[in-house]
Amino acid sequence: MKITRRAFLQGSGAVVAAGLLSAMGGTDREETAMSPPAGLSGEEAWETIRGHFDLDPQYIHLSTLLLASNPSQVREAIARYRQLLDANPALTVEEKRLELEHGVRRTAAAYLGVDFAGVALTDSTTMGLGLVYNGLQVRAEQELLTTDQDYYSTHQALRYKRRDSGATLREIPLFEKASSVSEEEIVETLIKAVRPETRLLALTWVHSKTGLKLPVRPLADELRRINAGRDEQDKVLLGIDGVHGLGVENFVMEDLGCDFFMAGAHKWLFGPRGTGIVWGKPGIRSMVNTLIPTFTPDGTWGGRMTPGGFKPFEHQWALAEAFEFHRQIGKAHIAERTHALSRQCKEGLAKMRHVTLHTPMAEALSSGIVCFDVDGHTPQQVVDRLGERGIVASVTPYSPSHARLTPSIINTPAEIDATLAAIREMG
Ligand SMILES: Cc1ncc(COP(=O)(O)O)c(C=O)c1O
Repeated sequence: MKITRRAFLQGSGAVVAAGLLSAMGGTDREETAMSPPAGLSGEEAWETIRGHFDLDPQYIHLSTLLLASNPSQVREAIARYRQLLDANPALTVEEKRLELEHGVRRTAAAYLGVDFAGVALTDSTTMGLGLVYNGLQVRAEQELLTTDQDYYSTHQALRYKRRDSGATLREIPLFEKASSVSEEEIVETLIKAVRPETRLLALTWVHSKTGLKLPVRPLADELRRINAGRDEQDKVLLGIDGVHGLGVENFVMEDLGCDFFMAGAHKWLFGPRGTGIVWGKPGIRSMVNTLIPTFTPDGTWGGRMTPGGFKPFEHQWALAEAFEFHRQIGKAHIAERTHALSRQCKEGLAKMRHVTLHTPMAEALSSGIVCFDVDGHTPQQVVDRLGERGIVASVTPYSPSHARLTPSIINTPAEIDATLAAIREMG
């Protein structure tokens, strides 16, 4: 990977830019991503980027999927806005809120390749799922469809919707073994499960249960075929919990083809804690009723879907810097790096006789999450043993439960090697 000096000097990443400049020991010069030798490349570049996080170096942090550390430019922005709010809370909100909120939505829209009007700001994935699934206009004779691989927040939001709409809720088994299922099998299982009354298909892009990444686009293409013969109010709508793909995968919304996308920004995107986004497709998004009064009645769907109330605005406003951080590094570089570390992790685990790897090896069916079991150990024992070595892993909150590692751009190949060595010793 090569990070261009220019890229980091554009936008508001002043602190990152200063760090990179001093690391490179030079002045600003026009460079392209392909021009050696002046730019940072390889591990040197990633080391510089890692340097912008305040993570405790005593640990190997492999649980980014829970809650992110913020890079310097996000921390600086939070501090800047906090200072303004502490100096003059009422006037700062009155004079700056709308402009800053719109700025965040615009930055998110540019990152996702969508229209600004379709982006709302939330506190989390969970809030986005609750707002969209519970606000969606669904008739009592219709059905909500999900799978046994989705997260609690999707399932619970759908249960509330069933309670309030009278609609049926059906949860289907998606596959027997994540590690050996194919893209075609997944799409076929889901499409076969769709019934004439199915109104919503609520899925998760990257599963925190196994690390499997859903082939969303092929599925959306099949759904479009089914929907071609249906009236507007009977079309199957595709809702995606995208939290473990956002900030990892190199995508724009068009690549997914879903109708609604809900994600927290405080995980892989390294955004401020308590931030998230929702996106709704033009033409379809108007079918979602508002559940929480907005403070942003700007005539857009994203405005009315952004819950109001006074809140830690410094976090919400600083979210623009997280998107900016990713833009400056490059979505493609981030995806490549995360996949490379995840591959290293999976290949190492697959070689160990005492380990069962649950995450598919295929890049198309996996992302940054790696799930596995170690013979003779419960997932909690695995995580505890790693913890004794200063390696922060997690246990999946599902049944069956697995041990889980989530390499990201804050990690190095050496850290993955050290983690693999610690797991090898458990054999
Ligand atoms: C698939 C999935 N969705 C949502 C969440 C919760 O995200 P948030 O904290 O943004 O609500 C998690 C776990 O934290 C998850 O694994």
